[in-house]
Amino acid sequence: MTLWGSRMSAPLDPRVREFTASLEADKRLAPYDLKGSLAHARMLKRQRILDAATADRIVAGLEEIAREIEQASFPWPDDAEDVHSAVEARLREKIGDAAGALHTARSRNDQVALALRLFTLDAIDGVDDALDDLQTALLDVAREHVDAVLPGYTHLQRAQPISLAHHLLAHVEAFDRDRARLGEARARVGVSPLGAGALAGTSHPIDPRSVADDLGLLGTFRNSVDAVSERDFVAEFVFCCALAAVHASRLAEEIVLWTSSEFAFAQLDDRLTTGSSIMPQKKNADAAELIRARSARGIGAVTAILALLKGLPLAYDRDLQEDRAALYEAFDVARDGAHMLATLMRGLHFDHAAMRRACERGYLTATELADHLVRAGVPFRDAHAVVGRIVRELSERDRSLESLTLEELRRYHPRFGASALEEVTVEHALASRSSPGGTAPVRVREALAAADARRRARAGER
Ligand code: ARG
Repeated sequence: MTLWGSRMSAPLDPRVREFTASLEADKRLAPYDLKGSLAHARMLKRQRILDAATADRIVAGLEEIAREIEQASFPWPDDAEDVHSAVEARLREKIGDAAGALHTARSRNDQVALALRLFTLDAIDGVDDALDDLQTALLDVAREHVDAVLPGYTHLQRAQPISLAHHLLAHVEAFDRDRARLGEARARVGVSPLGAGALAGTSHPIDPRSVADDLGLLGTFRNSVDAVSERDFVAEFVFCCALAAVHASRLAEEIVLWTSSEFAFAQLDDRLTTGSSIMPQKKNADAAELIRARSARGIGAVTAILALLKGLPLAYDRDLQEDRAALYEAFDVARDGAHMLATLMRGLHFDHAAMRRACERGYLTATELADHLVRAGVPFRDAHAVVGRIVRELSERDRSLESLTLEELRRYHPRFGASALEEVTVEHALASRSSPGGTAPVRVREALAAADARRRARAGER
């Protein structure tokens, strides 16, 4: 049964019905569609657009259907066009012809936009919860490793020693921005489009503001054409998810690197790794690899939703029905990836000695020697050239900076003082970088406390 059959002289070709139906994709929208319909029915009653008895029957019927959806006992028809027609048909089974009055002063165009917005608001919470889980895991792990050093990298070449906690807090920052972005999106998503009708509004005395209040939404649409044709809120949410997934992918990539034999900075719990069907020795971080891989789907979803909107004339076009694919894809990837990553982080066991050893090879504290000369009045460029020569000659003899004697240093430059010998140690290099936002353990402890407070505040805001 279609909602518009009487207009046509022939029934719909089943191939067209199947091709155009959105029922499968709409199933996740069902609870939100019902919330929207209930709010609409209550408004129709308040505004006396429907008589109280009819409105009450509609509300009671919709409440029953909402329970069926919740308990997964709703008898989904397989030939319905979308969730809206399926629910209306079910309402008719329950309350008879009165069901037909529900669609007064409403179109599926504003109806579906409302359901999508309500879905997206919950999805924002879902991703935010997952990012909170991930941040909590990162902070818990970081707390254990403030004084643990590992090489910080640039160009994937060992650069300078940093605290492992400092490195993990860098990831916390990225997820913090993701959460802020999602929070800001909430205000733009939480706008009710109900009352826009098909595109032009309605001649009935509706009250869109009271519907928004009923649903706990912040605002109502200002322009009916825009209200049914815009999916910026989907694009924005999808982008937030994709960026969070990209951030997750970068951390996942580091888990893959750190647990490789080449790095050997960490091991993953056996219960979190998978083996090989042929190579008995293998322990693979497949979950991390799939987090990395699925971020590609998030990126694809951003492209899909923007491309979908790009050539669309105002107002509603059926193309918009495809918005769900991108919305769900990005949502699932971001939420599931963040939870998985939290689990992986909690199951990572770091090898402090291996990380420390990696800091000792590769002249990671060469900058300290240059800074030493700078403090003795040598211009940085000259100091850099002197230390470059030291590193070149030491590396030819496979010697470390820490093996240098004061006499040797003075042969390179007379301004080297005795404290230089201490300054090239990894611990000293770490502790000395106490500038704001730096890796010195004193700064990292402060940063940890601040990040934790921010995380708690965000959790409290909602
Ligand atoms: N299934 C449609 C969608 O998801 C509902 C709106 C249909 N509107 C229309 N004018 N055909 O967008």
